[in-house]
Amino acid sequence: MYITHLSLTNFRNYGRLELKLPQSVTLLHGANAQGKTNLLESIYYLATTRSPAADNDQQIINWDANQPDEPIVVTRLVAQIQTANNKKQIELRLIKEAKPTGMSFRREALIDRRKVRLMDLLGNLRVVLFVPQDMALINGSPSARRRYIDITLCQTDSVYCRTLSSYNKTLEQRNAALRRAAETGRGHDVVSILTDNLVELGSEIFKRRAQFIASLALEAQKIHYESLTGRHETIRLGYLPRLQYQGLARGDDRQVDPFIETADWLASETDVVNISQRFAETLKSVYDKDVASGVTSIGPHRDDWRFWVNGRSLASYGSRGQQRSAMLALKMAEIKRMRQETGEHPILLLDEVVAELDGQRRALLLDYVQNSTQAILTATDPTMFTNRFLQSSSTILVQNGRVTINQPSPENESNQPSSPASSE
Ligand SMILES: Nc1ncnc2c1ncn2[C@@H]1O[C@H](COP(=O)(O)OP(=O)(O)O)[C@@H](O)[C@H]1O
Ligand SMILES: [Mg+2]
Repeated sequence: MYITHLSLTNFRNYGRLELKLPQSVTLLHGANAQGKTNLLESIYYLATTRSPAADNDQQIINWDANQPDEPIVVTRLVAQIQTANNKKQIELRLIKEAKPTGMSFRREALIDRRKVRLMDLLGNLRVVLFVPQDMALINGSPSARRRYIDITLCQTDSVYCRTLSSYNKTLEQRNAALRRAAETGRGHDVVSILTDNLVELGSEIFKRRAQFIASLALEAQKIHYESLTGRHETIRLGYLPRLQYQGLARGDDRQVDPFIETADWLASETDVVNISQRFAETLKSVYDKDVASGVTSIGPHRDDWRFWVNGRSLASYGSRGQQRSAMLALKMAEIKRMRQETGEHPILLLDEVVAELDGQRRALLLDYVQNSTQAILTATDPTMFTNRFLQSSSTILVQNGRVTINQPSPENESNQPSSPASSE
């Protein structure tokens, strides 16, 4: 799969962008703060309906367009996609509109110009993103690690995505009902109905996450051992499902066995009813505590996952280099898995990651890049790439929200930019 054309309106520092993208490799270069990352972000946003950076969707609306006295501001992202056997157009709109009641904000999704639910956009464009901030996954919060699973898995599993969305709503309702029960002593029957729903949805999530991480782990371990560390180091990627009351403190590996056992069981259990039964029983055993605290203490919303290198927690004991190799292995495994699941290469998006890798890792990553259907890289300094790599890629200069396609001619080494690809 690849994008043949990308069109942006009022997205970040792009007032208007019309960009034809070639199959194969594209290198976006230019000084800092010109819009390279923003361009990758727009593609990621179209693929996942989430921004890797913004915590608030309104941040992506172009500042110049987003004036307080404008009655309506529309941000549009449109991609023409070519897959192995068809073409389609996907579109996302963010609409900010002044209403008598105040400012309203909504998002719309379209496939081939017909409105669809936002969730239906997922799976039409699949991407794997490499950013330096990926490293924060290892040391960051469990919620960041869950977000990673959710975004990645939603690209290939629409049932998971729908189930997750229903689970989150049910969880909120159940927590509200728990608090009401604590305050008034009534409404336990409402909690009970919500618990049944939560169990059904949550069990499906447990199962799908367990299988997903197990398959990712297998690939990541192989890539890490064989290609990244010359058969010197082994990593293990493990799912820590929260099907028990006691959580796991960061870096504490003494209590990890029950989590790993549960994860293995979840991945191999063929009958989801058995998972539901265990989830329901555990919820029942913590019911009084949950009523007292007003929160549901167990369930996939408290899940986590972790890496170990040579048997020790990577977050606690790994060197920066070891952490980088593990992340790289994870991302490469993501590519492989997506290809296996869908029969198509995802689009690779790499933001300034090549610069920070040593020679061996860089060569391996660029191998993945060159074997992909489409890859888009950013770099402030394109000279760090080999001539061979540059010759086989298209290069685009990004300056202040405008792009210029470089057309190097063999006689002329100076790579003078020509033919502006955007107009305003
Ligand atoms: N909503 C927005 N509207 C207009 N400009 C924005 C918006 N959000 C970020 N920017 C600008 O975009 C530029 C950063 O672009 P970025 O893609 O991160 O640059 P780089 O080329 O270094 O990757 C900055 O100048 C920033 O101020
Ligand atoms: Mg950048």
